[in-house]
Amino acid sequence: MSIRTVATTPFNDQKPGTSGLRKKVTVFQSVNYLENFVQAIFDTIAAPAGSTLVVGGDGRYYNREAIQVILKIAAANGFGKVLVGQGGILSTPAASCVIRKYRTYGGIILSASHNPGGPDGDFGIKYNTANGGPAPEKITDAIFARSKALEKYRMVDAPDVALDQQGSFSLGDMTVEVIDPVADYADLMESLFDFAAIRTLLSGGFRLSFDAMHAVTGPYAKEIIERRLGAPAGTVINGVPLPDFGQGHPDPNLTYAHELVEIMYGDHAPDFGAASDGDGDRNMILGNHFFVNPSDSLAVIAANAKLAPGYAKGLAGVARSMPTSGAADRVAAKLGIPCYETPTGWKFFGNLMDAGKVTLCGEESFGTGSDHVREKDGLWAVLFWLNILAKRGQSVEDIVHQHWAEYGRNVYSRHDYEGLPADAANGLMAHLKSRFASLPGQNFGRYTVRLCDDFSYTDPIDGSVSTGQGLRVIFEDGSRIVFRLSGTGTEGATLRIYLEAFESDPAKQRMDAQEALGELIGIAHELSELKARTGREQPTVIT
Ligand code: G1P
Ligand code: ZN
Repeated sequence: MSIRTVATTPFNDQKPGTSGLRKKVTVFQSVNYLENFVQAIFDTIAAPAGSTLVVGGDGRYYNREAIQVILKIAAANGFGKVLVGQGGILSTPAASCVIRKYRTYGGIILSASHNPGGPDGDFGIKYNTANGGPAPEKITDAIFARSKALEKYRMVDAPDVALDQQGSFSLGDMTVEVIDPVADYADLMESLFDFAAIRTLLSGGFRLSFDAMHAVTGPYAKEIIERRLGAPAGTVINGVPLPDFGQGHPDPNLTYAHELVEIMYGDHAPDFGAASDGDGDRNMILGNHFFVNPSDSLAVIAANAKLAPGYAKGLAGVARSMPTSGAADRVAAKLGIPCYETPTGWKFFGNLMDAGKVTLCGEESFGTGSDHVREKDGLWAVLFWLNILAKRGQSVEDIVHQHWAEYGRNVYSRHDYEGLPADAANGLMAHLKSRFASLPGQNFGRYTVRLCDDFSYTDPIDGSVSTGQGLRVIFEDGSRIVFRLSGTGTEGATLRIYLEAFESDPAKQRMDAQEALGELIGIAHELSELKARTGREQPTVIT
């Protein structure tokens, strides 16, 4: 085997964000860009010779090319074996499942999640550790530090590996095992949920539609929902993964999953609708003419968890990201289990799950999951809902309304302002922060500010501290506004404004969220000088 050592110059912009390194495809295509980052990962993790790695991605443009590069660098860095999903495909939760099931040293996942793909779209790469979860900040920081000093990488000189056929292949001294990307994951789902009950539901006239958005979940959803659960062919729409996601924006929300939304809000709408994102870790849940807010979805799943066989013995605890509504906290309080509040990003849940402190985790950004893997998991959430629906025999809407009546409703919405000039966004955040000392005690309409802070988190397991995780303005009645800048974008800055108010009166709980939050929205604009600083008044996306 011939190993080449290639001299390179470091890049100074390879800092992983909320979920790995994300850049335009064209940036990843520049000479040595991907190679440097992969070598920086391998230098940092220092896997013992002969270790096994998992590699796969969401099938977006440049996935295949990147996998060939990663395989050749892995072979030159002493890995013994790499498990690759057939065709280079592994959804993010499936990659996590495979890392755990085969106890590999770690894995590399290629995805820019819900960001658009194609030659002008986005690409991404992240490293997951042996627990199957995204590398914690101390590792991503070390990878970044290494990338800034990297002077050479190693790569084998060998032809590309055929990825379309399952089986074992040699690459230098390393074995590349091309595996079925769906089977292990589908088996895991079958072990957690009552497939027999769901099959009975589906054969009794219950109708559903699942939108894979031309992204990675197509093959997974077809195998699980159509084949194993017996839903009619055509239940999964947009089920063939395409490198550019059919030029769509594979983000399962009311704006981007419009095809599904039209079906679910149209005549003769099915009973249940769901969508997943580019890499399969997000989910949107809809009923007939009804949207389930992701924060509520987490709470409903927590409250009904015992209906699923994999969770029948109850939950150890739940965790939610700070901007996610407190709906899950109310369920946890009633169940007498802890609820943890972490910074945004799934990597903060890993330690809690590894330590057995929490079973369920969720984020307002359409992310829900549990300790069955260490990533959020779109199809898992869909199956959990189907399991609950099968057992309760009620509509999605009735289940949510009943939940609100029992626990109260945390009325919630997120407003995103995408594509802002970075200076304007940073200026707005700095201005807000500068007002924090004087805000407590001040009245805004019917709201009085109780406290303001820049959220920081001390991991209860390893004591690591993460600062600067979002500006919170919390009012006396528990309502709050949170301001955060996105850490996943590749162009300009995205400001996220998270709004939450509590409604205990069942007579008012069914109000439209935007209406109910109207006064808070006005306060958010006033506090941040949004219009003056960004020229914007209308969000790009409302979820
Ligand atoms: C966004 C979401 C966050 C999620 C991440 C990865 O990050 O807000 O909850 O974990 O994508 O899917 P952000 O762009 O806000 O940094
Ligand atoms: Zn994703």
